Amino acid sequence: MPPESVDAIVLGAGAAGLMCAAVAGQRGRRVVVIDHADQPGKKILISGGGRCNFTNIDTAPDRYLSENPHFAKSALSRYTAQDFLALVESAGIAWHEKTLGQLFCDGSAKQIVALLLDECAKGAVDVQCDAAISGVRHDSALFHVEAGGRTIAAPALVLATGGPSIPKMGATGFAYDVARQFGLKIVQPRPALVPFTLAGDDLLFRELSGISAEVVARTGKAAFREAALFTHRGLSGPAILQVSSYWRHGEPVTLDLLPDRAPGWMVAAKRATPRTTVRRLMQDTLPERLATALCARLGDPGEVGGMTDKALSEIERTLANWRFLPNGTEGYAKAEVTAGGISTAGLSSRTMEAQRVPGLFAIGEAVDVTGWLGGYNFQWAWSSGWAAGQAI
Ligand code: FDA
Repeated sequence: MPPESVDAIVLGAGAAGLMCAAVAGQRGRRVVVIDHADQPGKKILISGGGRCNFTNIDTAPDRYLSENPHFAKSALSRYTAQDFLALVESAGIAWHEKTLGQLFCDGSAKQIVALLLDECAKGAVDVQCDAAISGVRHDSALFHVEAGGRTIAAPALVLATGGPSIPKMGATGFAYDVARQFGLKIVQPRPALVPFTLAGDDLLFRELSGISAEVVARTGKAAFREAALFTHRGLSGPAILQVSSYWRHGEPVTLDLLPDRAPGWMVAAKRATPRTTVRRLMQDTLPERLATALCARLGDPGEVGGMTDKALSEIERTLANWRFLPNGTEGYAKAEVTAGGISTAGLSSRTMEAQRVPGLFAIGEAVDVTGWLGGYNFQWAWSSGWAAGQAI
């Protein structure tokens, strides 16, 4: 049987693939989207606690990690957070800003999937789920894909199968395999936006599982002020997930546990209330159990009036730079995204097309562009999907 012939085949019916297909379809291209999952947009459905943090109004290229920090600029500036918000509003989806520019649906993430499928329908896009891809090849300027009992040929092939984070949802490194098949380089993928695991002495913090505090978390040059959460395996919470994307094995992570206290505050407290204890001072700001556990680690210092200024300054410094040495992360099973991926060095930043393989495109999380927590990753999916959708 001769292959079905279309203008473009998009592999992956996730955020980026659906956006790309809708844009291309509405430009009159005949587009087929192939996905092995039983329904499209599964990660969208579970995102943002079921409400989908669909973009961030503070989107800027410096909030993305990539070997080439300039790569994302073009796509992000041509299809912006405001553009996606306009689409959301045009569909009558109610939304709100939760914090730090993060926009969520008031209702459900299902509305975002429905919006994308509506946009695909307007472009007569053929979305096929439950279709395992058994082969991808290229000859005489056409890509041939065998999937779900069909053989489809097209001059354009878009890799939009994301990264391997959360494999139990069907996430795979398939895009990397196809990229390698066509000679594209891969930047070593690694779990990102992921909790840390702790070992040794740090495991004592397990007793604090469930307690959170607002901190400044740091690793290398990266610093994020948000909540940190103690877990029974280590550390989590937004501040921790953010720094995890920048963390490399063997590096420490420090927490400023009292970020609103100016240097010298303990000494000043000694002058004002010498009978108070270090623990009571810490409890003014920190959850009681956390203050107690930290104090125990500090050797249970007593009343501040009985301590030297030097000793109090030392405690201040320790609390502002509490050092953890994670022994690892919770890995792809818990990582919200995958950092690394298809190297941007071989792609056009304007169209996402492979420079050496005309007609081959890569978009979304499969590419070595990883956003901060807070809607940045979906915005990259929309922007890169839009850029490729304009080009195919
Ligand atoms: P995506 O993963 O969405 O889609 C890839 C598609 O390819 C999937 O449909 C998959 O089934 C398919 N596929 C994979 N391998 C295949 C194969 N071998 N054959 C066929 N099909 C294959 N981001 C954000 O900005 N705001 C948020 O609120 C959240 N929340 C969030 C929560 C959780 C729990 C996770 C795991 C992730 C998030 N994210 C997020 C990240 C966000 O979900 C992610 O960055 C985007 O979904 C990436 O979009 P893509 O289209 O690139 O991949």
